[in-house]
Amino acid sequence: MDKKILLRHLDVPNINQLEVYRQHDGFKAFEKVISSMKPAEVTAEVKSSGLRGRGGAGFPTGIKWNFLPNDSWPHYVVANADESEPGTFKDRELMESNPFQFLEGLMLASFAVQANLSYIYLRGEFWEIAHDLDQKIQDLEDVGLLGENILGSGYSLHLRTHLGAGAYICGEETALLESLEGKMGQPRLRPPFPAVEGLYGKPTLINNVETLANLPPILLNGADWYRGFGTEQSPGVKIFSLSGCINKPGNYELPLGVTYGELINTYGGGVPEGRTLKAVMSAGASSDIVVVDQYCLDTPLAYETCMDRLGAPLGSASVIVIDDSVNIAWLVAKTVNFFKHESCGKCTPCREGTFWMNSITSRMMRNEASAADIDLLKNVALQMQGKCLCALGEFSTMAVVTGIDRFRSDFEKHVRS
Ligand SMILES: Cc1cc2nc3c(=O)[nH]c(=O)nc-3n(C[C@H](O)[C@H](O)[C@H](O)COP(=O)(O)O)c2cc1C
Ligand code: SF4
Repeated sequence: MDKKILLRHLDVPNINQLEVYRQHDGFKAFEKVISSMKPAEVTAEVKSSGLRGRGGAGFPTGIKWNFLPNDSWPHYVVANADESEPGTFKDRELMESNPFQFLEGLMLASFAVQANLSYIYLRGEFWEIAHDLDQKIQDLEDVGLLGENILGSGYSLHLRTHLGAGAYICGEETALLESLEGKMGQPRLRPPFPAVEGLYGKPTLINNVETLANLPPILLNGADWYRGFGTEQSPGVKIFSLSGCINKPGNYELPLGVTYGELINTYGGGVPEGRTLKAVMSAGASSDIVVVDQYCLDTPLAYETCMDRLGAPLGSASVIVIDDSVNIAWLVAKTVNFFKHESCGKCTPCREGTFWMNSITSRMMRNEASAADIDLLKNVALQMQGKCLCALGEFSTMAVVTGIDRFRSDFEKHVRS
């Protein structure tokens, strides 16, 4: 693609400065929206753009906005900037390098659901970004783009940043809300969903940073323009975080529907010389381990095709590339250890299951496991599936089950015969 829509700092130097951002169409969408559009019209435009949430689940954004009831006030919007999935580093680049586009997106979403106070929830390690965003929010208040009665429109909005304390589970939207309320970050039972009873029991919209950054170009150029990129069911552009055994790791903004082969070989420069591609994980540590063959390389990276062709969701599109230098049992041990550490402990299948999976994979890594431990490990994972309170428990089993099913010989290298 010639011009970037999200990673615009690659085309426009210093776009993280308010003046420069405004010289390049910055806040034109917001000014247009608050002066000439009704909230419902904004939601309708986003709905027809087909934008899907970039936080992992790919839920249609405009449809989600419509879930907030109009008989319960106030409404809140929370930007999910927790970004803790191993292999995911796109929101960080957006907030560091093109922060005003993200803030404008948050302001547009807030107007659409008529929130007057919105939050940015950042992982604890992003304290420098939070500090910088505080300064940018102040810049916007100084020029009258935030605060009371913005540009005489009658609409008022205040933004606040909030830092977590380094827990992966706080990216899960209901644990995030608990943490934001000052409680321990553990998921809530659903229903009620946050759109109905969210922050302080009030209707709350939660959107990912990248989702929000898509809004200014959509509302400035229109839904049809946005649909000119991507596929029918996954319109638009996506930032792919590419990491692992790859020559050129990094964030790549590309239209949805680019193939695995193009992403890995054309943009990422392939695997280091002398090695061969072995597997990929499409959504960080929370992914199935997919065998790389020609069919996989030809698969378009879009929400529908990844699931239909490979049975592995696109998720946050954090593609971890694995070559033949990697033993899959070792990789699985790493993911299991991560989930055991991050399990919040609220429900028994996940708390106990991640503990026991970690105990077995640790045994394997010490070469003290028996052949029967491979099936025992898979059995623990299968016992967990469908029984956990939130998706973290499910995520922890994906690499285990697919790893054993598809790369059993790698596990056999780690057991006593
Ligand atoms: C364990 C877990 C961790 C998550 N971490 C994040 C995260 O770091 N950032 C994020 O945007 N969504 C994360 N999500 C998804 C959120 O719960 C939620 O679906 C998302 O923020 C909605 O935004 P979207 O509709 O714009 O995608 C996580 C979900 C789970 C189950
Ligand atoms: S599945 Fe794990 S992270 Fe989620 S509520 Fe249960 S213990 Fe906590």
